[in-house]
Amino acid sequence: MTSDALSNLLHEDRRFPPDPEFAAQANATEALYEEARADRLAFWDRQARELLSWEAEWSHVLDWSNPPFAKWFVGGRLNVAYNCVDRHVEAGHGDRVAIYWEGEPGDSRTLTYADLQGEVSRAANALISLGVGHGDRVAIYMPMIPEVAISMLACARIGAIHSVVFGGFSAEALRSRIDDAQAKLVITADGGYRRGKPASLKPAVDEAVAASPSVEKVLVVQRTEQDVDWDEGRDVWWHDVVSAQPAEHAPEAFDSEDTLYILYTSGTTGKPKGIKHTCAGYLLQTAYTHRNVFDLKPESDVYWCTADVGWVTGHSYLVYGPMANGATQVMYEGTPDYPEPGRWWDIVEKYGVTILYTAPTAIRTFMKQGEEIPGRRDLSSLRVLGSVGEPINPEAWIWYRQVIGSGRTPIVDTWWQTETGAIMISPLPGVTSAKPGSAQVPLPGIVADVVDDAGNVVPDGHGGYLVLPEPWPAMLRTIWGDDQRFIDTYWSRFPGRYFAGDGAKKDEEGDIWLLGRVDDVMNVSGHRISTTEVESALVSHPKVAEAAVVGASDPTTGQGIVAFVILRADAGEGGDQVAAELRDHVAKEIGPIAKPRQILAVPELPKTRSGKIMRRLLRDVAENREMGDVTTLADPTVMNMISSGLASGS
Ligand code: WT7
Repeated sequence: MTSDALSNLLHEDRRFPPDPEFAAQANATEALYEEARADRLAFWDRQARELLSWEAEWSHVLDWSNPPFAKWFVGGRLNVAYNCVDRHVEAGHGDRVAIYWEGEPGDSRTLTYADLQGEVSRAANALISLGVGHGDRVAIYMPMIPEVAISMLACARIGAIHSVVFGGFSAEALRSRIDDAQAKLVITADGGYRRGKPASLKPAVDEAVAASPSVEKVLVVQRTEQDVDWDEGRDVWWHDVVSAQPAEHAPEAFDSEDTLYILYTSGTTGKPKGIKHTCAGYLLQTAYTHRNVFDLKPESDVYWCTADVGWVTGHSYLVYGPMANGATQVMYEGTPDYPEPGRWWDIVEKYGVTILYTAPTAIRTFMKQGEEIPGRRDLSSLRVLGSVGEPINPEAWIWYRQVIGSGRTPIVDTWWQTETGAIMISPLPGVTSAKPGSAQVPLPGIVADVVDDAGNVVPDGHGGYLVLPEPWPAMLRTIWGDDQRFIDTYWSRFPGRYFAGDGAKKDEEGDIWLLGRVDDVMNVSGHRISTTEVESALVSHPKVAEAAVVGASDPTTGQGIVAFVILRADAGEGGDQVAAELRDHVAKEIGPIAKPRQILAVPELPKTRSGKIMRRLLRDVAENREMGDVTTLADPTVMNMISSGLASGS
């Protein structure tokens, strides 16, 4: 974020106190904060008893005797899928809709909790028949269709560990994730619909699996009916294998600390980190936050989270949180603007969506398109609006509330990460007096601080780094296969405290304002992409000698990727053609979301005497700002060479 944007943010003084009528019916109350402050572990103990069904009780709420390796609900046993599906049927809610699924071409499906119980049981039986068991890893690479949630729950049901890989990632990205987790099975589809056309998935799986000896079987859902290559010994159709199974499966209870899933996210090095989440604490905090932050009333609400299931938001707020709470939700397959820009608002109107959870980048895109488009639909069913993925600027916040929320809905700006597993900092609707642009305060049961370089907690009115000084139930337990990296990445910068990687400021009232990443991680449309990952993709191209990548502020996507490259002498003329070639190369190596917005060929890169690239200076160039201090450069003239080269258009 630029310093201008930052100071604007901190001068925001509009306040939106809760509506008394909303407050009177809200799930959350001020008393939750007091209860959690008085005894945090007793608070979580009570939540665990009220929100989840257990087969065996725990002996301790938290074991923090070997930090940073936490154990929550020690000795407790439960089945995550039973909690998300069966118990709602047993409680008499089998007829309640679990998923209103909307395909992009306009087809739709409705699954009740009873339907889901049958489907998840069938899928669980199918996984067992394919040789998958407790602790085995299953990679899931799918479009947004009900089978993706069914697959995840089927894994959870039998104690297999899923690793969902976003369908927009490349074959290479999929291969490296399959390899790191040593997945035995891949669940995929022939393809899915995007922007009016069937997009394929199976060819990327074929390519990835050809180089993945761990994979024994590939289970394929037929969605688009496009032609696919078929390996008779390896590939099986969902409609053959799953549909043939009995719709009954007795769930077995697993230990609280059994692994539920791995989800890869970008770090500051080129190698993605496999974030490991476990069963009980994760499920508890997703359920608790989903109930209180969104004020969920499972009997009457229709909830819609627009995230793709390939990201953590999809895991926690499309699958585990809402389903643990027995929510009715919408799941949409495609793009927001197909067949036309009002598609999302049509969906809100069609299903009477009451709670909407989306990202600032989407809100800003709708803002640009104007109020008329949502204005033509009936959005009066909406009563809570959520935001996630990046800081929401006050203008977008106000627009969201005025135009989408008719000027009356609470907005919850939820800060959290893949690593935290669930929402950590957010207003509570009906309780908090909202400030546009601020995520405000840690939720009851969560502790967060802002500290300076030396690790001292800053006074109100000051900025620094966001840290989490106390463990929380949904916290990551480690990086898959790399405990040392877990310790180094999160627990070493401020020993004993979790370092989130975000800059933050506390205002005069102690409310927290998130200011973006302080490490080499970019945030593009709410997606996390590492500069080093894009750099290594670029230098793997034969025409590139060196590359440096920065995230430059972008009015719509938050940040845009700008790459500076030194071309090899034999690469020929630079120019648009090479830039296009390199952008495609990055898409092939990582996925289209990582394509640089701009690629600039330069003669040199700014480096310190120890050889570290000074991205700060490149960011100045990319954002057309006056250059900062260049005195630590090994060669201070480099920046002149770069700027004059760019100015002359080479
Ligand atoms: C990073 C985590 C959390 C699910 C989606 C992204 C940024 C996330 C907010 C927010 C300001 C936010 C942070 C964080 N972020 N939510 N409400 N306000 N920043 O998950 O890919 O793990 O990215 O997203 O920088 O560290 P993720």
